[in-house]
Order: sequence, then C-alpha cells, then structure tokens
Amino acid sequence: MKIKKVVFPVAGHGSRFLPATKATPKEMLPVVDKPLIQYAVEEALDAGFTDLIFITGKTKRAITDHFDQSLEISANLTEDKKQLFQQMNNIIPSHASCIYLRQGEPLGLGHAILQAKPVLGDEPFAVVLADDLIDAEKGVLRQMVENYDDNQSSLISVQKVAKQDASQYGMIATNDNKLNMQKLTNIIEKPHPNEAPSDFGVVGRYIFSNHILSFLEKTNPGAGNEIQLTDAIKSLLQEFPVYAYHFDGVRYDCGDKLGFIKANIELALKNKVFGSELLDYLKKRLASWG
Ligand code: UTP
Repeated sequence: MKIKKVVFPVAGHGSRFLPATKATPKEMLPVVDKPLIQYAVEEALDAGFTDLIFITGKTKRAITDHFDQSLEISANLTEDKKQLFQQMNNIIPSHASCIYLRQGEPLGLGHAILQAKPVLGDEPFAVVLADDLIDAEKGVLRQMVENYDDNQSSLISVQKVAKQDASQYGMIATNDNKLNMQKLTNIIEKPHPNEAPSDFGVVGRYIFSNHILSFLEKTNPGAGNEIQLTDAIKSLLQEFPVYAYHFDGVRYDCGDKLGFIKANIELALKNKVFGSELLDYLKKRLASWG
C-alpha cells in the first residue's frame, strides 16, 4: 500500500531551547535560512507524501502561518521579489494538503501522535520529528519508504550513539548486527548507559503500520510522566514485526542548542553563496586562537 500520510508532532514544550522557545515554536528556528519544520516537510514531499498532518499546540501558530499563502504579491514589488514571494507561497504544492490538529496539552510524543487517529484511518503512516534534521543525499523518509515498500512492516530509524548519551534516546536491541535493517527485539526509553541493550538509539523518522494506534491508546505515562512512543513500540513488537533502519545521512539534534549550532555551521559551509567566505572566516578565527 502506498503511504500518503505523515504526522509532524510540533506541540512540545521545547524546554531545552528556552528562552528562544518561550513564544516561538522550536520547529520554526531557522537553520541558515529555513525553519526546521520546512526541512521536514520538504523531506516528506520528496518521499511522495501528500497528506501532511501537523499536531500543533499553544504558541505554535507561526507554523500554520508559515505554510499559508500569506505573502501579498502587490504590483509595486520588483520582479525578483514577486518571484521570491510566489515561491514562498507555494512551499506546499497543489497535490498536497495540510491538516492541523491540536494537542491540548503536551502529554508526550505518543499522546501527540494519537491526536492524528481520526484522520489516519487504517492506513500506514510516517512520523517525522522536525528537530532531528538529517542531512542526506537521498532524504531519509524516501530511503524508508523504499524499504517499507519491500517489506510492509513498521520501520524506525536508528543511529549509533555514544554510550554516555544513551539516556537521551530510545535504545534498541535487535536479532542481528550486520544488515542495515534488523528486526527489533526490544526498545527502552532513556536507559542508564549501563543498561542500554545496544549502541543504537532511535531518531525522529518512523513508518508505522496502523496497529501502533491501538497500542498507544493502551500506553500509560512513562519516563518524564509522558505518554512515550517508545513504550507503545515495545508493545507493538511483541505482536507485529518492527525493523530498525540504519539510514544514510548525518543527523543533527536541533532540539539541543549545541546540535542546532552544529547544523547551522555545517549547512552554512555548504551554502553556495557564502559557504567559502564562512570557511575563510572560521580558519582565521581558529588561527587567531593559536
Ligand atoms: P521532544 O521531546 O524533543 O520535544 O519531542 P519537546 O518536549 O518539545 O522538547 P524538550 O525536551 O522540552 O526540549 C520531539 C518532538 O515531539 C513533539 C515536539 O514538538 C518535538 O517536535 N512533541 C513532544 C509533541 O508534539 N507533543 C508532546 O507532548 C511532546
């Protein structure tokens, strides 16, 4: 079955990024010149998704505005500006549509996804966490859709994480260490580094069979007193196959200040207009430190 629906949970507190996120959504923070959520949406469009479901909440209005055709193209604009405004008004192509749902209170990622149930029907769907920015030649969602097509089982993206960071991730166990797609046997939310079942942690790209929703409905608050997606995945994999997918690409945790700054530097260095000037600047700066 072709997957059309993708859920963007964007209703979280963004507390690791205060004060920037007090009144501005974390997902609207720009990496170079584009908000995080736009990178995520473009990745989903490139992978063929057409139904873009945003789970928004308090202080998240700017996300809705961003995808509106809100720039007025008045006659007195220069031709260059008219073109630019036109482009900005057409971030979402006409074959795709945005659906905005509210999470009244940020009770956890699992709870956010559950808000999409009324529009998900019984189809498989993807979930993208916009604060995980992944720089990849082929978008990670596209990589995952191709693998889902072959195999029709839930897929979660994973990467190797440093042992001391295990307590920031959902950490997985699999039955095989060789392939880039392995069957999950266990998953634990934010374990103590000594209790992590492997070196691999989950990052924010998922494709789920619809069964996940009934497990989410039965999931009680877990770590941080939030309804954790990880706990529902743990129940899902007892009854249905779930695979870990090792993607090609570099992921930046842009929900974290340092990760966000790294993403800005790396993507700015790739910028065609000012990348080489930035590199010269950084080299001079480093030289001045001896
Ligand atoms: P995070 O745990 O990174 O987001 O959730 P957070 O809670 O906003 O951040 P901190 O930990 O307080 O800094 C990953 C994604 O899930 C969304 C967030 O908006 C983010 O995009 N989310 C999280 C929700 O939509 N609702 C929630 O209840 C929790």
